[in-house]
Amino acid sequence: MSGTRRTSKGTALSNIGSYDERLKGFDWGIAREILGWEEGDLLNIGAICSDRVCARDGAGKIALIWEGFGDRKATYTFDDLRVYSNGFADFLVGQGIEPGDRVCVFMDKIPSLYFSFLGVLKMGGIVQPLFCAFGDESLEVRLASAGTRAILTTQKHVRKVRKIQERLPSLEKVIVVAGDESKLKDGEVFFDVEAALRVEEFESHAAGPETRSVLHYTSGTTGQPKGAQHVHDSIWGQVLTTSWVLDLRDDDVYWCTADPGWVTGTSYGIIGPWALGITQCVLDSGFTSSRWYQFIQDNRVTVWYSAPTAIRSLMRDGEEVAARFDLSSLRHLTSVGEPLNAEAVVWSEKAYGLPFLDTYWQTETGSIMITNFPGMKVKPGSMGKAFPGITAALLDLRTHEPIGEPGKVGLIAFRPGWPAMFREYRGQDDVYRSKFVGAADDATPDELRTNEDLWYVSGDRSSIDADGYFWFVGRDDDVINTGGHLVGPFEIESALVEHEAIAEAAAIGKPDAVNMEVVKAVVTLNPGFEPSGDLELSIMNFIRKRLSPLAMPQEIEYVEKLPKTRSGKILRRYLRALEWGEEVGDLSTLEHD
Ligand code: WT7
Repeated sequence: MSGTRRTSKGTALSNIGSYDERLKGFDWGIAREILGWEEGDLLNIGAICSDRVCARDGAGKIALIWEGFGDRKATYTFDDLRVYSNGFADFLVGQGIEPGDRVCVFMDKIPSLYFSFLGVLKMGGIVQPLFCAFGDESLEVRLASAGTRAILTTQKHVRKVRKIQERLPSLEKVIVVAGDESKLKDGEVFFDVEAALRVEEFESHAAGPETRSVLHYTSGTTGQPKGAQHVHDSIWGQVLTTSWVLDLRDDDVYWCTADPGWVTGTSYGIIGPWALGITQCVLDSGFTSSRWYQFIQDNRVTVWYSAPTAIRSLMRDGEEVAARFDLSSLRHLTSVGEPLNAEAVVWSEKAYGLPFLDTYWQTETGSIMITNFPGMKVKPGSMGKAFPGITAALLDLRTHEPIGEPGKVGLIAFRPGWPAMFREYRGQDDVYRSKFVGAADDATPDELRTNEDLWYVSGDRSSIDADGYFWFVGRDDDVINTGGHLVGPFEIESALVEHEAIAEAAAIGKPDAVNMEVVKAVVTLNPGFEPSGDLELSIMNFIRKRLSPLAMPQEIEYVEKLPKTRSGKILRRYLRALEWGEEVGDLSTLEHD
C-alpha cells in the first residue's frame, strides 16, 4: 500500500482484464467462484459478509475502521463483525421478530448501523435502512408503506419515532441502540451490542435466492416513495461488480462515502466489499475537504467510491488543499449518483493523479449497470459501457423501439434478469409493471423480472456513441436529483400544502453549481398571507423538519396561478424549462403523466 502500487490510468494489475475478454464467456457464476461458494453453502448476505470471511481465515482482519465527530475512532475485525451482528440477530429473535419482518435501521453512520444491518439479515428479517436526516413525515410514509415491525435507532433520533408511533400500528418495537438508557420512554427497549454478552454462535436463516433482504425507498414523480425490494441472490451482482469495477483486492483499504440510507451505501458500502473480506472505512462526520483528505491520509485509503457533488466541493476548495496531504495511497477512484462532468474527471487527474471513473445504476438495479472499468479507455463525461452480463439499450422516447444509430437520445433500458435487480415495489405491482416495456397487463412481478423479451426502463435519457459509450442526458421524469439524492416532487408538494400559508405548490429542481440541482418551490398563497422573509423561513423550516434538509426548498417563488394541464395537473415541466432557460415549446408536449 505504498505509492508504488499507484497505477495511473489503472491499466495494470486490475481484477477485470480487458472489457472484451470479460464479455466473452460471461457468467454471473464467476461471482461464486470468486467467493469459493458452492451449491449447498449458506446463502445469507449477513453470514457471507461476516461468518464466512472468518471461516476462511479472515477473523483477525480489520473489517471496519470507523471515525466520528471530534476524535472518536474505533476499529473492528471481521470476528467483531460476526459477533456483533450475531448479537443483533439473537436480540431481535428474543424480541419476537420473525423472518420476513421489516426492521428499519435509522441512525447515523455509527458502528451499530453496520452490525445491525447484517444482524437483521442473519435472522431472516428484511432490513429497511433509512437516512437519519429524514424528518418524522418522511419516516412515517416509509414505515407505514413497509408495515415495519421494529425500528432500531438512537436516543438522538428516537423523538421523531415517538411523534409518529401512534399512527403506525405495525410498529411494535422501538429499540434504542445508543445514548442514555435512562432517557427512554415506556415501551422502548435499550440494547447496546458492545456492552451486551457476546453471542459467539448464531445459526443464520437459511435464505433462498429469492428470500427478501434489503428494502430501499426511492422517489418517483407521482405518489409517495416506492419500496424497491431486493433479495439475498443480489449478492452475486454486488460481488462481481465490486471485484471488477471497484477493483477491490485483499490488501485494499476502501472508502465508500455514501450513507447506507441510500443504495450505494449498502450494495457497495456493506455487501460487496465485506463479502469479499475487504477492509472498509467509515467517516461519520460532516464534510470539509481537509477532514476528508486527513481521513484518506491517516487510513491509507486505496480505493474511493464517491459522488460528483463531493468531487465538485473538493474542486471548489482547490488543488492546494489536496497538496497539503499525503494522498499517495489512492490507486482507484470511482463515482456515482449524478452526471460526472468532464471537468471533474480532468481535475481529479491533476489533483490526485487519477481520474474518477463514472458508474451508473439505480436503487432498482441494485448493482452497477453502466460503467468505466480500470483498464478501459476513459472518455471524460461518459458513463462508460454496459457491465458484462447486462444487456443495455436506448429506446426511442415515443415508440419505445430500440435505437440503432449512434448519437440519438433515448431511454436507457435493460433486459431483465440480472441478479441484483429489484423484485418488486412493495405493495405496488402496477407501478412495478409500468417500468417494463412490453409487459402484459396481468403479468406478475415474478413473470416480469424473468422475461428477457421485455425492457426494464430506467427513467433516464442518454445517447450512445459509435464505440458503445453512454452519455447521460437527463432524467425522463420530474424527480429532483440533489447532490446524488433523489427527492420526489410529489412528497415535497404534499408537505408544502400542509403549511397554513400555502394553497398550491410545485416542486422543481433548479441549477446549482455544487449539488447539480436544489429544490425550488413555486407556490400560491392562501388569502390573508403575503410573501415575506419570515414566511420564507417558516416554509423552509417546515419542510426541513418534516421531510429532510435535502427536500428543503432553497428558493420560494410566489405566483398568482400555477400552470396546469387541461386535466388540472400542475405543469412542473413548464416551470422547470423556464427555470433552466430551456425552450418551452409546445405546451402539449410538456404534459406528462
Ligand atoms: C438515479 C438513481 C445507485 C446510485 C445511487 C443513486 C442518477 C446515478 C448516475 C451517473 C448520471 C446518474 C440517475 C439514476 N444517476 N448514477 N453516473 N450519471 N446520473 O441511486 O437514488 O436510485 O438514483 O441517479 O438519474 O436514475 P438512486
